[in-house]
Amino acid sequence: MLNRRSLLKAGAAAGVLAAVPAGLVLGAQPKRTVDATTPFTVPLKVSPPLRPVRLADYDLYRLTTREADVEILPGTTSTVRTFNGALSPLIVARRGRPVVIEQANALNVPFSMHLHGGHVPAQSDGHPKNEVAPGKSRLFHYPNSQLASTMWVHDHSHHAHAENIYRGAAATYVLTDPDEDRLPLPKGQYDVTLQLRDAKIEDNGTLVYDLHGFQERPTFLVNGSPRPYFRVAARKYRFRLVNTSNERAFVLRLGEGDEFTHIGTDGGLLPAPVPSRILQLWPAERQEIVVDFSKYPVGSKIVLQTMMTYPGEAPEVMRFDVVRGADDPSSVPGRLRPVADLGTPTVERQFAMSFDPQSQQHLINGKPFDINRVDFRPKLGTTEIWTIENKDVAFTIPHSLHPHLDHFQVVERNGKPAGPSEAGLKDTVSVMPGESARIKIRFTEYTGMYMFHCHLMGHLTMGMMGQMEMVR
Ligand code: C2O
Ligand code: CU
Ligand code: CU
Repeated sequence: MLNRRSLLKAGAAAGVLAAVPAGLVLGAQPKRTVDATTPFTVPLKVSPPLRPVRLADYDLYRLTTREADVEILPGTTSTVRTFNGALSPLIVARRGRPVVIEQANALNVPFSMHLHGGHVPAQSDGHPKNEVAPGKSRLFHYPNSQLASTMWVHDHSHHAHAENIYRGAAATYVLTDPDEDRLPLPKGQYDVTLQLRDAKIEDNGTLVYDLHGFQERPTFLVNGSPRPYFRVAARKYRFRLVNTSNERAFVLRLGEGDEFTHIGTDGGLLPAPVPSRILQLWPAERQEIVVDFSKYPVGSKIVLQTMMTYPGEAPEVMRFDVVRGADDPSSVPGRLRPVADLGTPTVERQFAMSFDPQSQQHLINGKPFDINRVDFRPKLGTTEIWTIENKDVAFTIPHSLHPHLDHFQVVERNGKPAGPSEAGLKDTVSVMPGESARIKIRFTEYTGMYMFHCHLMGHLTMGMMGQMEMVR
């Protein structure tokens, strides 16, 4: 389908530099057969859901955060940080059925587990004040009273969060509900979670972390495998894309710019499907798409690539190999989920995101994070409008804003109504240098302290975070 020349042309057309992946490495290391950037040599791993202990009132999981040696580059092992020893584990929960997680921390750094996108009590939100020290454990209560969506679990400890995420500790948390079940979307083995991220991995398997090294992470991983291939049937699939990168944004394109259907974002299904050919996925964001492989003959190989790369990087993310025909009872209905009504706003807040070259800190409204400062106190049930402005024109730094506890709607971008692909509920919004976004948000149910921050982990580590206390 997609040959190297058309790929290079597509890259050049988009003003990005598409590099030719390095060839086979022969000889030197007998066990190693491929270079880190040789695409499509390993199969995609699809994790089966973790099995909870089913108790009368909730599902109980035990997650141990610990180091593990796993094979990422074929023939080598990498020491990574994991939940229960594996990369990209999956939890599938059900609306109305609470989950309790006992997290035991067997790392030698603190860990503060956070369900990103979760509507959870403050005590279970992973506030850095509640860090779990090495050797200790803590219970997390996730009520699952919110609408179906794809979330993920990661660290929020005060100093180790960026590195804990980078070193691999990221679980996907899929919440299902009866409303979604009733829709004829692809289900079961045709509903697949894809965690996308970048990494710097040396030829011997060493995973290299550098807080400032975001331009030197050329290896793209999907569910922990480098640029894998995935054997698919010639029918529709639902893909839940989760960007677990520290700072990498993916601008995804399928095949020759083939059409797919955008069906969901951070907070679950869009009001209506949006036919798309390109899809942005910023750190921590989720995008859900349906791809219909029945339009490709069996034997086709369709590459998913990113249109935004640093010089010298190969753009390939993964490849779909259509290997067999299949029946397909699924379809994408014209209406997916009603637009949420978040009420009429009565409070306005401003968020100016900027880098301060003097202090080398990233600031919100001129201030770096201070765990002893409460930035504001939202009243539960009150609808607010937040204006987020990225002031970093001179440094051309993208930012995002992620408030904990509740989802929001993107109302405007740069003074214009947001498009149909942002018409659903979101929890992380990216804002480019010199641009602005307005969001409508209403916090409900739980009082206490919650974070808001840029989700580019380097920025967050260098101050771009605040805390808000929910009050009645
Ligand atoms: Cu992904 Cu503060 O969260
Ligand atoms: Cu979060
Ligand atoms: Cu930022």
